[in-house]
Amino acid sequence: MLIAPSILNINNLDLIKDIQVAADAGITRFHIDIMDGHFVPNLSLGPQVVSDFKKAFPDLEAEVHLMSDNPDDLVPAFIKAGADLILLHYEAINEEDLSKWIAFLHASKVKVGLVLNPDTPVSVLAKYSALIDQVLIMTVYPGFGGQKFISESCSKIEEAKKIIGDNVPIEVDGGINDETAQLTKKAGAEIFVAGSYLFCQDSIPQQITKLRQSIDE
Ligand code: DX5
Ligand code: ZN
Repeated sequence: MLIAPSILNINNLDLIKDIQVAADAGITRFHIDIMDGHFVPNLSLGPQVVSDFKKAFPDLEAEVHLMSDNPDDLVPAFIKAGADLILLHYEAINEEDLSKWIAFLHASKVKVGLVLNPDTPVSVLAKYSALIDQVLIMTVYPGFGGQKFISESCSKIEEAKKIIGDNVPIEVDGGINDETAQLTKKAGAEIFVAGSYLFCQDSIPQQITKLRQSIDE
């Protein structure tokens, strides 16, 4: 089980401080949400944040959630910035290009995950299961932090697990808190992205402990 905090909801001027607090509480991977204002209706961070992150925290993993339909410009930029893993949206890239980018990322020694939006069927995973390192099942529609978990996601995770088997871990993202983490874990999730549950509360370490306890139970 792994918790990958999303830094989207950290006040940008507090990024290094809050990341350090979470790292001190044992977090080893951070989820960096990249929104392009086109594939999703919001703009967030860019490659500079990833390279600053890797300079400040070379031992921590940077997982880039690329919410963009412009892989041609952005995938190379995030590889250069030092991303350890890049998550590509199935809906954003045509299938031929998707296979090309998966191969390109692996040739660049960067891990790759495939992301499915809430209304994308899990059947599309079948042909990618042998090619990817991770699957991300969105449990909200992407674009904003702080949204409500979509409860239908649990049956979708169970279906995805049947298709991809045990070798490719399933990650969940959106509306994850102690309750929804427990539900999605039961359905088969192993990696939990959480943003507002961890960073919009009084104590980051306390929230991490609560989330950890809910998935360790
Ligand atoms: C949504 C993002 C999520 C989000 C998580 O588009 O991909 O990573 O920021 O935030 P919470 O946990 O607040 O839903
Ligand atoms: Zn995300």
